[in-house]
Amino acid sequence: MTNASLSPTDLRDLAAAGGAAPSLHNSQPWFFRSTGDGRGIAVYADRTRAVPLTDPDGRAMHISVGAAVFNLRVAAARLGRDPRVTLLPHDADPQPAAVLDLSRFAHTADPRRPDLYPAIARRHSSRLPFANRDVPERVVGELIAAADAEGVVLAVLEEADARRVLNLTAEAERRTAADLARQAETREWLRVEPATDGMPYQVLGPQDHDARVPVRAFTGRPPTPPAPTQRFEALPQVATLTTRFDRPEDWLRAGQAMERAWLVATIHGLRMSVLHQAVEWPDTRANLRDPHTGPGYVQMVLRMGYGPPGAPTPRRPVEETLEPAGPESTRRLPTEPAPVRGRPTARPWGRDGSGSGRAPSRGR
Ligand SMILES: Cc1cc2nc3c(=O)[nH]c(=O)nc-3n(C[C@H](O)[C@H](O)[C@H](O)COP(=O)(O)O)c2cc1C
Repeated sequence: MTNASLSPTDLRDLAAAGGAAPSLHNSQPWFFRSTGDGRGIAVYADRTRAVPLTDPDGRAMHISVGAAVFNLRVAAARLGRDPRVTLLPHDADPQPAAVLDLSRFAHTADPRRPDLYPAIARRHSSRLPFANRDVPERVVGELIAAADAEGVVLAVLEEADARRVLNLTAEAERRTAADLARQAETREWLRVEPATDGMPYQVLGPQDHDARVPVRAFTGRPPTPPAPTQRFEALPQVATLTTRFDRPEDWLRAGQAMERAWLVATIHGLRMSVLHQAVEWPDTRANLRDPHTGPGYVQMVLRMGYGPPGAPTPRRPVEETLEPAGPESTRRLPTEPAPVRGRPTARPWGRDGSGSGRAPSRGR
């Protein structure tokens, strides 16, 4: 145990690491708050940043928040702390997604474990073509072990399964493209002007000339403005993340597993991106599961390979994501139902003290 409270700089470093996590459409649906004793940090889902048509249950939101939690754990270790994580504690109102108790000093770092901290800033989604080069077995083993340490199964798919999953992804992508409301929702997260969230056009990447890799066309099908096409790898290397159950705590675990595996991949110079479309429709999601494995729920589809790094996406400043502890921070009500997000520039409801803190209900 240590009595040492986290300094303001520690808290800022932690929040910056958490905020660097991947999230659906770079929505960054989280905020952080020092715990009352000053020796920990709580992570909240910011439901004002929901993507409700694409993610009606908040599953992807919890995955994103889980990824932020993993980054916080890595950053805490960097501060010499041994994080103890409680997911979804019941005794707090509003309920955090996770509380990290950082009151213990870490024992000496395990030399067999790589320091993942530098990979947090280097990790970016790469939606670019990869080389026709297999991921070595040794690296595959490390990715599997990374997810396993979080209680999640990472499977790198054999050719037939990879093609099955890519076909389901293509089917889901077609459906999403035909759904005008979802398309409009996705467009709300595209950014032409400099911004601190959402997706700048330059990170979207090309479409596959041979239509083997169904990368998400964020601007509709056909993409508008037209996206360039390039030849992608002949046999994409695809991995799935599967959990035994499908509860919010499983989603948070899946997010931690994804980020852990992604940081390990980054250390090995391996790029990744997410192919999430098939997870967003119940029937394609159910069919993602390998019929030969036991029961479980596919939470993520990841494409990986060797190629150029993806371009960085912006992040909200720490001043926005790190709240002071204390009663004034209840101004945002994370237990409120997820609102439909307004125009991209809209401020979350009630944050400036105006309004009721309740979102106007639109379309739900
Ligand atoms: C739950 C979830 C779903 C995502 N779905 C997709 C997807 O379908 N296609 C895609 O290209 N990227 C997807 N992403 C990646 C995000 O777009 C990306 O993390 C975000 O824009 C931030 O960029 P970065 O990963 O480079 O930091 C997803 C990420 C998460 C966490």
